[in-house]
Order: sequence, then structure tokens, then C-alpha cells
Amino acid sequence: MCGITGYIGGRQAAPVLLGALEKLEYRGYDSAGVAILEEPGGRLFVRKAEGRLQALAGLLARETPRGALGIGHTRWATHGEPSDDNAHPHTDLSGKIAVVHNGIIENYAPLKEWLQARNVVFKSDTDTEVIVHLVDYYHREDAGRSGIFGAVKKALRRLEGSYALAVISSDFPDRIIAARKDSPLIIGLGQGENLLASDAPALLAHTKTVLYLEERELAALYRDHADVFNEDGERIIRRPETIEWDNESAEKGGFAHFMLKEINEQPRALGNTLRPRLKQAADGALDIHFDELAGAALAEAKRIVITACGTAYHAGLLGKFLFEGLARIPVEVDIASEYRYRNPLSAPGDLFIVISQSGETADTLAAMRLAKKAGGRVIALTNVIGSTLAREADFTVNTLAGPELAVASTKAFTSQLMCLCLLALSLGRDRGRIKGGEFQRLVRALQRIPDQAGDILAKQETVQKFAARHFNKNKVFFMGRQADYCVSMESALKLKEISYTHSEAFAAGELKHGPIALVDPGTLVAAFATQDALFDKIVSNIREATARGAKALVITWEGERAFNAAADEVFFIPKTETPFSPLLSIIPAQLFAYYCAVQKGNDPDKPRNLAKSVTVE
Ligand code: AGP
Repeated sequence: MCGITGYIGGRQAAPVLLGALEKLEYRGYDSAGVAILEEPGGRLFVRKAEGRLQALAGLLARETPRGALGIGHTRWATHGEPSDDNAHPHTDLSGKIAVVHNGIIENYAPLKEWLQARNVVFKSDTDTEVIVHLVDYYHREDAGRSGIFGAVKKALRRLEGSYALAVISSDFPDRIIAARKDSPLIIGLGQGENLLASDAPALLAHTKTVLYLEERELAALYRDHADVFNEDGERIIRRPETIEWDNESAEKGGFAHFMLKEINEQPRALGNTLRPRLKQAADGALDIHFDELAGAALAEAKRIVITACGTAYHAGLLGKFLFEGLARIPVEVDIASEYRYRNPLSAPGDLFIVISQSGETADTLAAMRLAKKAGGRVIALTNVIGSTLAREADFTVNTLAGPELAVASTKAFTSQLMCLCLLALSLGRDRGRIKGGEFQRLVRALQRIPDQAGDILAKQETVQKFAARHFNKNKVFFMGRQADYCVSMESALKLKEISYTHSEAFAAGELKHGPIALVDPGTLVAAFATQDALFDKIVSNIREATARGAKALVITWEGERAFNAAADEVFFIPKTETPFSPLLSIIPAQLFAYYCAVQKGNDPDKPRNLAKSVTVE
């Protein structure tokens, strides 16, 4: 959604805030702004600009503010169109208080009326603006006696919805007040300076020592320390934690875009996911062990329920094939936003696996809380240590993909899949469904996956050339059977979100039940074929499409000739065990989406209308 940041210390705040906003821009990029306490003078310098961060950077280059305290924001509009007025920070009528906010204030309409009845004139169409006027109202109500902290605390009691916010006031030039509910907020502790941000990469250039703010907590940041409080204003002792990611892993490292870098990082990310979970006995036999799941009693589960959104949901769908196929345990998979509202049935013995790259997706968190309320054991599969999901779940499996900053998820997806493969295999073994020799064969196949992913990436130029020929197709349909259908869904999502091409996924056998009516000479059909027993069926499905003028691409095993006659082009992926094929077959589709986006002149890292982390409903 939006990204917020704040700085208090001995350096000039403007470049620090801009640097942090650059790292947060993936969260929203329709406008940006800063408020800095000017020195000398003690007035708030506020500048906001519609559009990408460069617009704001341009403004600040022309009139650089001097001051060592400030807050900043990069916006993904929810209430009010992208514009200078609707950009954050928002200020009170006197211009002494400024607020940045990520989240949605659901009761902003009655609050706005209440404030308007008290002569407040609003300058924007945002929900956020009510916050700053409420803070000002409570500040004036007790003549400033409880300070800006007391005023924020009182204002928060009036708010319904979600927020991570930071407030500064020129009357209190030594502090930033922050608070969170249902939106992430991290405090970075530096030497003689402190920072805050919605996400860790914005802090890494300055510090790796952080405090995670919990639900409904507030914080006061000073130059030399930071205090955490509960919603009643009582001090809380919070132990600082260390972020393991380095600053370099949050940089582009010579790649044109984060997305391309993250696609190319998959061999390493997959290895990082796999390695800590593999143990080798003295006789060379391999075993799978998740230390973090000690006590989770996986093998006792009667049913697994997986919930997630978007790409993580597609990983969950593939998880169903893995758990049902390898461990013979029933699995239900639900989109989190559906699960939370459909009054789901749960039973004792249900094991919930909640998947989320960010660990902050609002719908996914709500689904997790519902599952916990129903008495279920929840395992979180997430890429962000310290995220809300990781902290609230009973057990957390870290996917260890490293920071993923491009809006389109790639390496986080394959790392989620790798975790699911490992979990399903170990569960299959524990439930007696996979015996020794077969288990060893399958684990060794997983061990080869990182190198095989590297082999596919070594040939990425083929995909680039293919994209150069087909990027302007008006429709791209992905199809496949079984797990290949789920890979098709992920491929279609990837292509539509960054190339804006109309793209759908079909279970290949369903084509003739309706979707084929859409096929015409402007259509590209891409078929995944890794289910050997169904190759003849896929050939027929391809012919159904090409007979109507479509061009056909097939993604299949290295050396497979079954599709040479039917398809216009075939991409080969290295052979692995069938249940693990999605780990490899998705890579050409990720590359295809990336290169189509680039061909069209889109920014794949910041696709229109999207944000990396969907922390509102
Ligand atoms: C992925 O390319 C998408 N941007 C999106 O579908 C994403 O996977 C979804 O919003 C879930 O995010 P999460 O994994 O952080 O919960």
C-alpha cells in the first residue's frame, strides 16, 4: 500500500528520507511527500508531488530544506485520486502538525463531519486528513498539557480501520510519535539517530537493529532513544532485534530492474531455502528436518487447509498436489479474502498453512486470525521475519528467499514451493507413504533444482527473443493439466500484472467447454506439459487452438519431441521428478512476462494500479 518513514538525528533529514522512500516506493508510487522541521526557524517545511518519487526529489533539489527531523510518505491511493493535495504528509490548520499514514480509516466520513462541525476546513479528499485534525483538536483541548503524544493517543481512540502512522509537531521539535494497527511499522535504532519505516529495506542503509511495533502500540522516537507504549500510554520494554538481510540484497546489483534480478536470484534463493532443511547422515542418506516446526505435530494432521492471496495462493494450489500426492493427506485451498467471509468449517486436527511473502497482507492475516480462533494450529510460510504473520502464527517457516522488492513475486514464489515440496516429502515419509529409496530419490531431485533453475536462466535470451516477437499479442492463454494448470494461473497473473496483456489460465481440458470461443489469430496459447501421461491430451488441446489461428508455445522437458509438430515453438526445461516440475516450469513464464513488459515500455517493478504489499482489504 503506502510506505511511511521518519528520521530524527544529527544529519540532514531530507536525503535520508528520500533514500528511505526510494526503498519503499514499491509499496506505492502515485505521489510522495515529506515534512521536515526547519532549522533555524522551527517551522514545518512540507513538499508533496504527484507522480513518482523523482518529482519530489526534483522539488527538494530546488529548495533543499535544512533540518534533522522529518517524516516522509509514498502513496498508493485509496481515498482521493493521486494529486499534490491528496499526497501525504497532511497538516493541521496551523501548519504545525504533520502526519503520514499507511492504511485506511474506515470511519473517516463521520469523523470528517464531526470535525467540519468544529470549523475544520479540509484540504484533501483523503481519509488520512482526519487524523491530523483530530490530533490538533485533542492537543488544543487540554491546552497542550499531555503533549503531542497524549493528543495522538486520544486521536487513535477515535479511529476505526488500519494504520501505521508518524506524527511530528513544530511545538515538540525533539520527537516523532508513531503508532500501528494492522499495518507494519519498524523502528530502526542508530547511533545518535533513530528512524522508522514500513519495511526493513528502508532502514538497512542506516542500521540493522530494530524494534518491531506490535498491534495498537505507540512509540516516541528521540535522537538518542526510542520508547514503546501500549495503547493506554504505559511503557513497554521491547528487546531490539537484528535484521539479517544486508543492504546489498536490497539493491539492483547491475540488473535493469529488481524483477529481473529476483528472477535471476532463484538458483541461490532455492538453495538457501533448501539447505538448512536437509541433513545428511554418516552413510550419506539425506533427511528433511524443519527445526522451526518442533512440536507442530504435522504428521497428526487430519486435513490441511491452505489460505493465501495472489501468487502465494497459486503456491498453495500447488501445495495441494504435493501434500495429497506425496503424503496422501486431504488439502483444502482457499483465497484468503474468500475464506474469511465464507463461515468455513473447521475440525479438530486441521492444520492451517498460511502463505504470504510479505506476511502483511490484510486478507491473509484475517484468515489466519480466523483459523486461530477456530482452534487450529497455524504454520506461517513467509519471507519476512518479524512480519505480523510470522509473529502471530503458532509456527513460522521462513522461505529465506531474501528481500523481494519487485511488485511481481518471483523468487518468493519458487521458495514457497520449495518449502511445500520439502514439507510434503517429510510428511509423506512420516506417514509411511514414501519409503526409504523413493524418499532418497525425491530429495536428491530437489537438491538438483537450484542448478537446474540456473540452466534455464542461462538460456533466457531465447525467451527474450520470443517475447520480442509476441509481446503485442492481444490475448495470451496459458493452459495445462493438474499442477501445470496451477503454473498456468501463476503465469497468467505475472503477464497481466506487468505487461497489461489480457491473459487467462485454463485447465487444458476445459478449453473446448467455452474459452475456445475467445481464440483467434491474435491469440498466443502457451501450454505447460510436464505430466507425461497426459501429453497426447495436451497435443489435442494445442491443435484445437492452432486450428483457430492461434500461435502455440509449449514448455516441456528437455529432449521431449511430442510437441514438435503441433507447436510453433517449444521451450525446454531440465527433467526433474514430476511433482517438482513447477519449480522449473514457471521460470520461462516469469521471464516472458518480464520481457513483454520491457518491450511495451512498462516499468516491471512498479506496474500501474498495484502495490507490493496489500495491507488494506
Ligand atoms: C504477485 O505477483 C502479486 N503482486 C500478488 O498477487 C501477491 O502475491 C499477493 O498480493 C500476496 O502477497 P503476499 O504474498 O505478500 O501475501
